[in-house]
Amino acid sequence: MASCCFLTSTLGIFLSLWISIINAEFYVIDDQIGLGRRFDGIGGLSGGGATSRLLVNYDEPYRGQILDYLFKPDFGASLQILKVEIGGDAQTTDGTEPSHMHYEGDENYFRGYEWWLMKEAKKRNPDITLIGLPWAFPRWVGKEQSSPYHNPDVTAGYVVSWVIGAKQYHNLNIDYVGIWNERKFDAEYIKILRRTLDKAGLTDVGIIAADGNWDISIAMALDPQLYGAIDIIGVHYPGTTTIPQALWTRKTLWSSEDYSTFNHNDVGGGCWARILNQNYVNGRMTSTISWNLVASYYEDLSFGRDGLMTAEEPWSGNYVVESPIWITAHTTQFAKPGWRYLETVGNLTHGGSYVSLTDGKGNLTVVIETMTHDHSICVRPPLPPYKVFPQNATFHLKGSFATVSELQLWYSKFDFANSKSTLFKKLQTVKVFDGFFTLSLGVDEVYTLTTITTGQKGRYTDPPNSSPFPKKYLDDFDVRNPSFDEAPNFADQTGVFEYFQNLTDPGAHVFTLRQIVTQRPIAWANDADQTISIVGDHSWRDLTVTCDVLIETVNTGGVFIAARVDKGGESVRKAMGVFFWVFANGTYSVTNDIDGKMVRAEGLSGTRAGKWYTLTLTVEGQYAYGMLDGYPLWKNAVILNPKNGWAAIGTYSFEYAQFDNFQVLAD
Ligand SMILES: *[C@@H]1O[C@H](CO)[C@@H](O)[C@H](O)[C@H]1NC(C)=O
Ligand SMILES: *[C@@H]1O[C@H](CO)[C@@H](O)[C@H](O)[C@H]1NC(C)=O
Ligand SMILES: *[C@@H]1O[C@H](CO)[C@@H](O)[C@H](O)[C@H]1NC(C)=O
Ligand SMILES: *[C@@H]1O[C@H](CO)[C@@H](O)[C@H](O)[C@H]1NC(C)=O
Ligand SMILES: *[C@@H]1O[C@H](CO)[C@@H](O)[C@H](O)[C@H]1NC(C)=O
Repeated sequence: MASCCFLTSTLGIFLSLWISIINAEFYVIDDQIGLGRRFDGIGGLSGGGATSRLLVNYDEPYRGQILDYLFKPDFGASLQILKVEIGGDAQTTDGTEPSHMHYEGDENYFRGYEWWLMKEAKKRNPDITLIGLPWAFPRWVGKEQSSPYHNPDVTAGYVVSWVIGAKQYHNLNIDYVGIWNERKFDAEYIKILRRTLDKAGLTDVGIIAADGNWDISIAMALDPQLYGAIDIIGVHYPGTTTIPQALWTRKTLWSSEDYSTFNHNDVGGGCWARILNQNYVNGRMTSTISWNLVASYYEDLSFGRDGLMTAEEPWSGNYVVESPIWITAHTTQFAKPGWRYLETVGNLTHGGSYVSLTDGKGNLTVVIETMTHDHSICVRPPLPPYKVFPQNATFHLKGSFATVSELQLWYSKFDFANSKSTLFKKLQTVKVFDGFFTLSLGVDEVYTLTTITTGQKGRYTDPPNSSPFPKKYLDDFDVRNPSFDEAPNFADQTGVFEYFQNLTDPGAHVFTLRQIVTQRPIAWANDADQTISIVGDHSWRDLTVTCDVLIETVNTGGVFIAARVDKGGESVRKAMGVFFWVFANGTYSVTNDIDGKMVRAEGLSGTRAGKWYTLTLTVEGQYAYGMLDGYPLWKNAVILNPKNGWAAIGTYSFEYAQFDNFQVLAD
């Protein structure tokens, strides 16, 4: 190359650089001035509660595809952490999850779907971090008291047995356990939990505390033993900020639950993009975990569609890969746990933020977000006003990165005006001149600039179209080797309904569904006094529900079948609908509420415990009719409200009862 031309081109570069610099703000990316904190990964939370309930009932290949979008490295969200609920037999937002110890002495490590989910996640990403956290506990754990701290040794033993069971029965190494979700922590209990883990040889299992606010960090400063017991300070919905006392502990800080925002309008994706960066920029939190992992619960329950994606139709196979999946990929596909943040992170001058991360081996990843206020509001906490403007940003790479000559560029832009968002698109490589590059940033955008070349926007052919729950549905619960202990599509809202096998039954009811929680758990939400499992379509109006029922509790027991049940989740105590009850004392009633107070019909039924009956409930317009063993028992009960809701089964109290040959025929 002739020297004249070389000079000219260098001059040209300098000239264009100079022009862009005078119109741009400056940001240095440098590892020489020291590194920031260790990046611990981005995660999803299954549970708290029952948020993956419908996922397990998807047929293949759809179920595997959903799991790939969540966990498969370099495909979709490529999640690095899976946090699950340690089921406690109680309502924990969108349903109950079964405990591994329903009663004292009971142990079963095959209940529920969290074991399965952890194994599926590990299969895809063997390095994924696993966390277990209880929301609720079976009553016996608290020695009949309503606090798990009443008997801390038993509670610690209960949690540790879950960790041991994970290893023994599923070969899963649990990395961290928590205390009691969003409830007051107890310093003594935390120390006992640490000792109990150590005694069991589980010194590698860390404790995250306390899955609430920052108060734990103040307590830790005053209590060296407590300080020593806790590995990670985990807070919920921190609004991207921390407090000085938390930083003074020098412990790892996590947003151990965050997001919880509707995913189907891109504001959820905007929220997620903003907090993934700013939880570190403002709060030095090195991990953010989304509640929830995947919205796999009936949408009309609490916080419908607040997952990273949606998979709420196992009957159709339809699922929706939402923007938070691709926003997650902007970080997870280009930075692994163990990478370090650089000190050079911060706000952009005209709004937005940037973080930079390195593997310490010369790789660099920079993630930039320019989310506007109204397009990135999360469910909580309130977001103070701020402004974001289009801006030019010049980055100057120094230290180990001074010689980087090009960066891969991945780009997202939320287009709220035309709903034509661009998500996780690979653009042309950015040339770096003498350590400098300039970007012209718009608003509501995410950029990843990275030396990593392995990113991929994974894709499967579209899943089947969305369709409503089948109008004709029946389940005889005759499953010889069930993969899961719960019947498909039944979503327990109080109590736990499990497959049951009665080997001494002469034939008709060997395989049934049985409610097995016999004492009010140490609850997290407001469980009903009755047990209830819902199924079907919340828009169902006119229909017939038929089910064989067995009351097991002599004299005081009772069961119901129901239609038009309007509420579940945390509002389950206020559920209205058409409830058809039969009792062991030979009576029936028809009530408008789960509490059994708003009686619409009542009388004698001759029912008793220990005998199977077939109940039939028909609701048409404003009238309901009921049959017992095929004979009319009552008719013309007037039901004005609610107008629609799920079908359901349940019991009068926390008591054993069985159900068989469940059928719905909806209009
Ligand atoms: C970034 O800007 C926000 C306001 O938009 C502010 O609250 C925050 O403290 C700033 N963070 C840093 C690290 O300067
Ligand atoms: C970056 O990461 C890749 C893949 O992990 C690795 O092979 C390479 O050595 C790293 N360093 C640089 C400077 O690219
Ligand atoms: C960005 O820089 C270009 C020229 O390099 C200039 O035309 C443009 O106005 C700048 N944009 C902003 C928002 O400053
Ligand atoms: C099992 O079936 C036998 C025979 O019908 C019955 O006596 C017994 O009560 C049943 N047990 C349960 C738990 O339902
Ligand atoms: C029958 O039992 C139910 C449930 O315990 C109770 O509400 C009802 O009052 C009882 N009826 C009679 C006649 O004892």
